[in-house]
Amino acid sequence: MNRQTDAFMTHSAGDTEPVAVPPAVGAALPHESAALHVSGEATYTDDIVELHGTLHAALGLSRHAHARIVSMDLDAVRTAPGVVAVLTAADIPGENNCGPVLHDDPILADGEVLYLGQPVFAVIAESHELARRAASLARSDDVVRYEPLEAVLTPAEAKAAKQFVLPPLHLKRGSPEAKIAAAPHRISGTFEVGGQEQFYLEGQVAYALPKEMDGMLVYSSTQHPSEMQHVVAHMLGWPTHSVMCECRRMGGGFGGKESQSALFACVAALAAHKLQRAVKLRADRDDDFMITGKRHDAVYEYEAGFDDSGRILGARVEIALRAGYSADLSGAVATRAVCHFDNAYYLSDVEILALCCRTNTQSNTAFRGFGGPQGALVMEVMLDSIARQLKCDPVDVRTANYYGIGERDVTPYGQRVEDNVIAPLTEELLATSDYRTRRDALAAFNATSPVLKRGIAMTPLKFGISFNVPFLNQAGALVHVYKDGSILVNHGGTEMGQGLNTKVAQVVASELGVALSRVRATATDTSKVANTSATAASTGSDLNGKAAEAAARTIRNRLAALAAQQLNGAAEDVTFADGMVSVNGASIPFAQLVNAAYLARIQLWSDGFYTTPKVHWDAKTLTGHPFYYFAYGAAVSEVVVDTLTGEWKLVRADVLHDVGQSINPAIDIGQVEGGFIQGMGWLTTEELWWNRDGRLMTHAPSTYKIPAVNDTPAAFNVKLYRNENAEPTVFRSKAVGEPPLLLPFSVLLALRDAIAAVAPDADTAPPLRAPATPEAILDAVDAMHLYLQTRSQPAATPATADSTA
Ligand code: MTE
Ligand code: MOS
Repeated sequence: MNRQTDAFMTHSAGDTEPVAVPPAVGAALPHESAALHVSGEATYTDDIVELHGTLHAALGLSRHAHARIVSMDLDAVRTAPGVVAVLTAADIPGENNCGPVLHDDPILADGEVLYLGQPVFAVIAESHELARRAASLARSDDVVRYEPLEAVLTPAEAKAAKQFVLPPLHLKRGSPEAKIAAAPHRISGTFEVGGQEQFYLEGQVAYALPKEMDGMLVYSSTQHPSEMQHVVAHMLGWPTHSVMCECRRMGGGFGGKESQSALFACVAALAAHKLQRAVKLRADRDDDFMITGKRHDAVYEYEAGFDDSGRILGARVEIALRAGYSADLSGAVATRAVCHFDNAYYLSDVEILALCCRTNTQSNTAFRGFGGPQGALVMEVMLDSIARQLKCDPVDVRTANYYGIGERDVTPYGQRVEDNVIAPLTEELLATSDYRTRRDALAAFNATSPVLKRGIAMTPLKFGISFNVPFLNQAGALVHVYKDGSILVNHGGTEMGQGLNTKVAQVVASELGVALSRVRATATDTSKVANTSATAASTGSDLNGKAAEAAARTIRNRLAALAAQQLNGAAEDVTFADGMVSVNGASIPFAQLVNAAYLARIQLWSDGFYTTPKVHWDAKTLTGHPFYYFAYGAAVSEVVVDTLTGEWKLVRADVLHDVGQSINPAIDIGQVEGGFIQGMGWLTTEELWWNRDGRLMTHAPSTYKIPAVNDTPAAFNVKLYRNENAEPTVFRSKAVGEPPLLLPFSVLLALRDAIAAVAPDADTAPPLRAPATPEAILDAVDAMHLYLQTRSQPAATPATADSTA
């Protein structure tokens, strides 16, 4: 392995700094673990060196979507080869719950199963393989006897039965009914979009080690170590300080490890406690699919009234989300959906209803965008339909509806859009992507191509940054400067591949004016920073970057005072740059000053804390200022569709995305590209399918198709928009984790555009559902052919009349 690329991890203690240290912030530096990722040396939870005597757990899963457990006879499981223990709900000393908000998520089923795949018992065995083999006995009729109960499997069924995990969310402004009724034009319709499996490369895993005096150390692959600490403590009936949770990195989380790492942490800790041995629980891919929740799929009913330019005068939508069997984070997901229905558009008169439908399926949870994509997608579909009805370019309908500046700028939930850059951003993208010329070229191509049809679409995005729940917007950090001038930073955020640790280290290096190689980021650990929020809502670097900056600044101020003294200057004039501390024309190397500070008994470590200003939210009225600021972006996508097979290809995508002033353009572009492709998978190839029994049949890569590298368009032009955050965020940057997931709306609508070319004179949009699999595409193509047929009959009459005249 090339150790040079690893220099970032290895501090250069005591070295003199290079002559010119590149500014740490703003540089396109590689991910802090890039070299380890590619060499395979990065330690994920399953790679942690195992303690002697480590046991392995596996879960026995329910065979019914909804049933009463009549009896359990676990002897066959207990006597299976290598089995040390079998645990059920009855073995839990504290609370049998791992739900993040409501207490409706049993760790192990108790008396009743609520979805097919729900863990009913845990097997602890000498090896991972033996544990899995014994757990698979759950499939036998003799082990667990059930009395099947009626199961509700779809959001539509749940809606009809009025089964919701939480009360409906309702937001209304103005008089949308009246505005729609009086409008010159109207559309109404239904739309549906599927769910999405997070498909983190590293599955759910926890490794629990019992400690003395009723203590527990849990290594968990989690976005939320503090919550893992809490649920494990509650499960064991212990105070929080008895449990420690640590996570160095995840092989992806994407929201799926925000709350749902809890079940795995709890079972591992329960077994470790009962047996006083180290226990690891690593779900294999199929079990992970069967047990954990996914992105909420949604069914929409919408209507809108609009004027001749396509400007919306009134709009109404009902968004029925599949919550699954329990609440989990569905309330917050639905709230974000409500707050993103507007996307980039001003809606004077609007009504939004969001339902969290209770179904006997996995409990759906966070997934990149957290309901935002589900809210905004239907608006983009509606605008596309409006444009097709008016027979004009959808781009013009979109821009006609954009939020204004100083007018038409208040969101349905009452927050003013103050940092709007969507119009100039769009203009720039339309120019660089050559949109108008290509649109004409496509029409010419389609006119002479009967089978292959091309389509193009531009969609914008506006995404609110902050947790909708204001108290979550807080973070802490701990910075240590050691005597040799090397620096260690710890913060409450977690690293899941998104580059948070890299950005936080860059911030600390910049603050102290040293090379990035001097700064090392360590594992997230509940014993270092307490009461942290999940790394979610894209706020990781906003929150933890600021907290780390504050900690580093405290140390810097102490060092500045000493430097001023030693170099006869004023503390306010001291600068930290290029590894030197300077004032009054004189300089001292950073490491030398640090050592002097130690000898002078100056504290060389500090905590830092940050809370996001301005945010407030009234959950009753669904109004307030839930977002500190907005991130913006837009994409132009072009596809070619084979209308005989439903196969298609993304030919070219152009993206312009706003990350404010980038802390690390390489990482940010990676996030934009990754979010785009992941969102494209959601809208096109990734299809979750449950059979009539409520069994998820698409539970492995053999049947569930995530995008691969060859799905990336040959021309993929991703650029960052020149901007800086209007708010004083860390180095005026903006969050980038989730917003790009909305960019590939343009892919779905480009597909719709291509299918529309089957009947170019139609004034209705192709009924294309999402995911737009080849089957869905063919269904939509068929509908357009049918439209042509029914249209050609009456059209033939005047033509005949004409010719006889
Ligand atoms: N990028 C990678 N590589 N892996 C991930 O799991 N999760 C996404 C996004 N980007 C994810 C990712 C999600 S869901 C969120 S909320 C943000 O990263 C979280 O990190 P941040 O707040 O530091 O951006
Ligand atoms: Mo991201 S869905 O907020 O973990």
